[in-house]
Amino acid sequence: MTTEAPAGTPVRMSAVIRRAGDYLAAHGVQSPRATAEALLMYLLGTDRAGLYSRSEGLDTRAARLFGRALCQRCHGIPVEYLTGRQQFMDLTLGVAPGVFVPRPETEGLVEAAVEAVAGRSGPVVVDVGTGTGAVALAIKHLRPDAAVWATDVSQAAVTLATSNALRHSLDVDVRLGDLLGPIPEAVRGEVDLVVSNPPYVAREAYDSLPEEVKAEPYEALVGGTRFHRRLVSESPDWLRPGGWLVVEIGDDQGPEVRSVFEAGLVEVEVLPDLAGRDRVVRGRLPGATPGATSADGS
Ligand SMILES: C[S@@+](CC[C@H](N)C(=O)[O-])C[C@H]1O[C@@H](n2cnc3c(N)ncnc32)[C@H](O)[C@@H]1O
Repeated sequence: MTTEAPAGTPVRMSAVIRRAGDYLAAHGVQSPRATAEALLMYLLGTDRAGLYSRSEGLDTRAARLFGRALCQRCHGIPVEYLTGRQQFMDLTLGVAPGVFVPRPETEGLVEAAVEAVAGRSGPVVVDVGTGTGAVALAIKHLRPDAAVWATDVSQAAVTLATSNALRHSLDVDVRLGDLLGPIPEAVRGEVDLVVSNPPYVAREAYDSLPEEVKAEPYEALVGGTRFHRRLVSESPDWLRPGGWLVVEIGDDQGPEVRSVFEAGLVEVEVLPDLAGRDRVVRGRLPGATPGATSADGS
């Protein structure tokens, strides 16, 4: 589509955004206006207020780049891969093709995890399947006294999470490997919190995912409850008595993951997201860490 203003014609940004939004909507893109705004803010290096108060239209170069980005978005490329960034809690994270894009609903996982270890000073935390580092970095940001480790089987994710940690000067040790395997032996039995947003889409549900979700790595998406089961079986070796396992789940996985948790953990809870859908399961190893309080502060 053409977004450049003819010479001498003043074009308000609101008109550019409206036309671009209509174009995206016609191609079935969700949240078309917000998408057009996000792409323009990125291309023009401005925020929303700057965008709408701008008196001139787009020059030839910006119009060409904007047109190309709109086209890529219509072909199923997630907007976050086009802008290279995503807001997660208080952090702006670098995002790149080949790595899972952090979702707002995962903020509930961080809140449930931070609440679980609220009564412990200097907690040892491991984020399994860290992707961009979103969960590990948000926890370190909220709990600067925590010793935070993060793992991922994807080298692209490890590289990106490491660069996001540097970008925010957050001291998180990111390691390549399967589940808790890359964590040093010295930490075995000392961990206060294992937290994870594992791949949990059921294999049968993959084909019906939207194109922009399928643009993310298959290994970051698909797993059903396989990873939850592995985490329940492998975490107890790493947790100290009373240590917590907190995981994100699909909204239909609550009862199944609860019963898997109840086989080895206590104080098991299924927590809903803001829309009331099951989103997080947490439970702790029996026993108590001296000086620690439980998740409800008792
Ligand atoms: C759903 S994404 C979550 C990423 C990030 N924690 C977030 O919430 O934005 C799942 C992540 O787990 C990683 N992963 C898949 N299998 C794994 C395994 N066996 N061990 C560690 N990480 C794994 C994927 O590469 C992907 O980055």
